[in-house]
Parts: sequence; structure tokens; C-alpha cells
Amino acid sequence: MSPDTTGPAAVIVLAAGAGTRMKSRTPKILHEIGGRSMVAHAILAARSIHPQQLALVVRHERDLVAAHIELIDPDAVIVDQDDVPGTGRAVEVALDALDAKAELTGTVVVTYGDVPLLTGSLLSELVATHESEGNAVTVLTAVLDDANGYGRILRAEDGTVLGIREHKDASDAERSIREVNSGIYAFDAKVLRAQLHKVTTDNIQCEKYLTDVLGLARDAGGRVSAVVTKDRWQVEGANDRVQLAALGAEHNRRTVEAWMRAGVTVVDPATTWIDSTVTLDEDVRLLPNTQLHGTTTVARDAVVGPDTTLTDVSVGEGAKVTRTHGSGSTIGAKATVGPFTYLRPGTVLGETGKIGAFYETKNVTIGRGSKLSHLGYAGDAEIGEDTNIGCGNITANYDGEKKHRTVIGSGVRTGSNTVFVAPVTIGDGAYSGAGAIIRKDVPAGALTLSVAPQRNAEGWVIANRQGSNSAQRAQAAQAAHGSTATPDSSSTPATTEEGTQA
Ligand code: UD1
Ligand code: CA
Repeated sequence: MSPDTTGPAAVIVLAAGAGTRMKSRTPKILHEIGGRSMVAHAILAARSIHPQQLALVVRHERDLVAAHIELIDPDAVIVDQDDVPGTGRAVEVALDALDAKAELTGTVVVTYGDVPLLTGSLLSELVATHESEGNAVTVLTAVLDDANGYGRILRAEDGTVLGIREHKDASDAERSIREVNSGIYAFDAKVLRAQLHKVTTDNIQCEKYLTDVLGLARDAGGRVSAVVTKDRWQVEGANDRVQLAALGAEHNRRTVEAWMRAGVTVVDPATTWIDSTVTLDEDVRLLPNTQLHGTTTVARDAVVGPDTTLTDVSVGEGAKVTRTHGSGSTIGAKATVGPFTYLRPGTVLGETGKIGAFYETKNVTIGRGSKLSHLGYAGDAEIGEDTNIGCGNITANYDGEKKHRTVIGSGVRTGSNTVFVAPVTIGDGAYSGAGAIIRKDVPAGALTLSVAPQRNAEGWVIANRQGSNSAQRAQAAQAAHGSTATPDSSSTPATTEEGTQA
């Protein structure tokens, strides 16, 4: 059998609720933790048990939610809940939609779109227990210190499950029960179909409760059982932003711990945030205050941090990335970046290359061994191998309307404060003098200079800034060095010119 046919007949994820306590224009299940929306976490857990079908029940902000789900999982069946409220109705419409293709037989799992820490392995355990015990219904439960708001698990003297009582409908005695319904269940499809039709809205909330199916299934002679989890986080939903942050922190704690167990050194787990979409090799070192997002990958022996945020960045083996904010970039093996460096999308730094302090880069390919060590901007450019870009160099790529490319060859040495006015090409092995403004292509091996000769107007300060601190110091220096140049203020000071210098 292929893995796709080994799982339950279906997983139904309930995601129709409004989530008003989030107080957000964004639908609740689209809020993210660990770099994924809550509903994406729910879909991943569901898919990991290989259901033959996956359905999501939507209603609130239907179009936004449906578009998001289609992006994550185009094969998921999106089912619209009608005006009848309640979890029972949500499952009923989903079952009807799935049955319309071919009547389901076997196990149907129900989960929520807002329970992001639920894992596939706990779901598998639920399904395995359900099937091995031959149950009509198996509910996932947890024992909580504060069970307020949850449905309570009613058990018979022999410990079997009698049913579930919603908090709002419960007596004081029932409210003292601390075993709660997680809202996650495995049902036999036939039982679910038959009993859901009998569920009424005859309760304090006037909703069709899914929880009523348990009592009804038992009354009909079915076996109803529970799997109790000790890991309350896996059944906890996010109803407001306080819970969202708590779940996010716990999710991160688990992610960071899993990477440490896989051979990654994390110096300060509390300030290290790793999205679940990130991949790390053994012997990566993460220093405090590092955030890794999106499709970021870090190869063996690389060191990232402190104070570094990388989104969709690939860090090569043995690279060092210090105090850097980067996105959409590739850092080659043994390359170094930072401190205080801003890598924008399209930056590709070759092996052993360097982008140093106070550099911003964008859409630039930098060859092996080339160094951009300090203070500058490189954008829309291509730089060859073993080139050294001097301090303060800038690619002037934007003419106010269009972006233009700068192409710099291999083995190039540029002087401090060189400006490349794109489009421009610098040949291999060329040099530029300090302050060069390069507007025309430079052939291979040429020295390019574009600075006017330096002119010193001697005595200018003493003549024109009489009595100033500068003038006094200049006079003292002249006296000490025996200089005589003291023209009066009306005369043109003597000037000397120097040849241009590299
Ligand atoms: C439900 C359970 C309760 C359980 C709790 C766990 C019922 C009647 N009660 O209560 O026993 O302890 O979950 O969190 O099932 N939803 C829909 N359509 C609806 C109503 C809800 O899709 O018409 C979805 C929501 O989006 C949410 C989930 O079902 O993901 C639970 O809904 P919610 O209103 O939070 O249920 P509770 O009243 O908390
Ligand atoms: Ca809830």
C-alpha cells in the first residue's frame, strides 16, 4: 500500500469560527506562529497521518481563508458551513460533501484550525487506539488545572466515557471535573453520519454540538473511549493574542530544543527564534538574539549571530554572519558578513567572500574571494572573483527612473569612495583611485582616476579666519616649523598644486 492509503478515510478540520477575541482584521486561523499560519500547522498535522481526504470547513472571512488554504494545500476540499451554528453542523456539512463523491467508511478524524501545536504523532496515536479498540468514537482529552470554558468528560464508574457536557450547560458538580474535551476525535464514519442526524440545537447556545454524538453513540451500543494526553499544549487553541504568544513561545521552545538534539549549538534558547520552515545542519552555532525565518538554511560549522535576523537566506558551510539583517540572499561557504550589514533580496556572496560593516547590498552577485569590507552600497551589480572593493564604494544604479547594472571584473582593486555610475563595466585587474567617479567603462588592467588635481591655498585660514582657533593653531604650527608664509588678508594666497594620486 502507498502511504496515501494507509491513513484514515478523512480528516475534517473545523475552521468556520469568527475568532472575535483576536480583535483583528485578519481571520484568526491566518495568524502565524513559527512562520506558519495556525491553519497551515493544522493542515500539516492532518496530512502527516495520510488521510485519503482532507476537508476544511470555512465560513467566517470565507474567501480569504479559502484562498490561503488553496495555496498551502490545493488538494484539500473546502466546505462552506451554512447558517446552522455549531461544531456538529460543521462536521455534518463536511461529511455530506465528502460522501457526495463516495460514501466514507472507516475512521474520520476531526481537528480544529486553531490548535497549532497538535502533532501528527498524537493524531496517529488517537487513530491507532480508536481502531485497535474498535471504538465508535475516541476523544482526545487532557486534565487541566483550570478547565473553565471547556466541555467536560463524563465517565461511568468503570471509567468508560458516557459523554461530554459543555461548560455552559454543566451543573456545578460537572464543572468540578478537570478532564476536558480537546475537540479532537476519531469517529467511525457510519456512527458519525447516523448520530449527527439526531443531534438537535436544544441547548443553552442553540448550536448543533458535535459533542452530543458521543452520548448518542454510546446509547446506540457503540464503544466510546478517550485518549488522555499529558501534553496540554497539543490540545490548546489560540483564542486571543495572549494565547497566541504563549503558543508561539512554546512552539519555538520545542523547535529550538529539537535542533539542539539534532546537533545545533544554541547559546541562548530564550532569544533564538526558528521558524518551522528553517533547516540547519549539525555543528551550526547560533548566538544570542538570532531569528531565522522562512526557507533559511544554515550549513555545517556556520556561525550566525548575535543579533541577526535572516529570512529566506542560505548560509554556506563555515560561514560567519554577525549582527546582520538579511533576506532572499545566499552566503557562500566560509564567507563572512557583518557586523551591521543589510542584505536585501538577490544578494549572492561567493565562497570566502566578505560583506563587511555598514554595507547594504541588493541584487548583486559577488564572486569567490571578493571583499566589500566597509561602508557602502552594492546593488544591481556583478562582481568577479578576488576583487577588493575599497571603503565607501557605491554603485549608483538608479537614474531616477530606471535601474542600471554595474559589472566589475575579477582581481579589481578600487580606491576609497569610488562611485560606479551605472551602466558601467570595469575590466579584470583594473584599479581606481580614491574618490573616483566612474561614468565610462574601464578597460582591463587600467588605473582610472577622475578627481581634479588637489589645490592648496597656503595661508588661507590665517588670512581669512583671523583670530579663530584654527588660525591660532596654524600660526603656532608655522612658528614651530619656521614657516614665513603670512600673506595679508587682501592678497590672493599662494597656491600649490599636486598631481593626481591613486
Ligand atoms: C468546543 C467543544 C468543547 C471543547 C472545546 C475545545 C463543542 C460543542 N464544544 O467548544 O467541548 O472543550 O471546543 O476547544 O464542540 N467551529 C466551526 N463551526 C461552528 C462552530 C465552531 O467550524 O459552527 C470551529 C471553530 O472555528 C473552532 C472549533 O470549531 O476551530 C471550536 O469552536 P469553538 O466555538 O471554539 O468551540 P468551543 O465552544 O470552545
Ligand atoms: Ca475554542
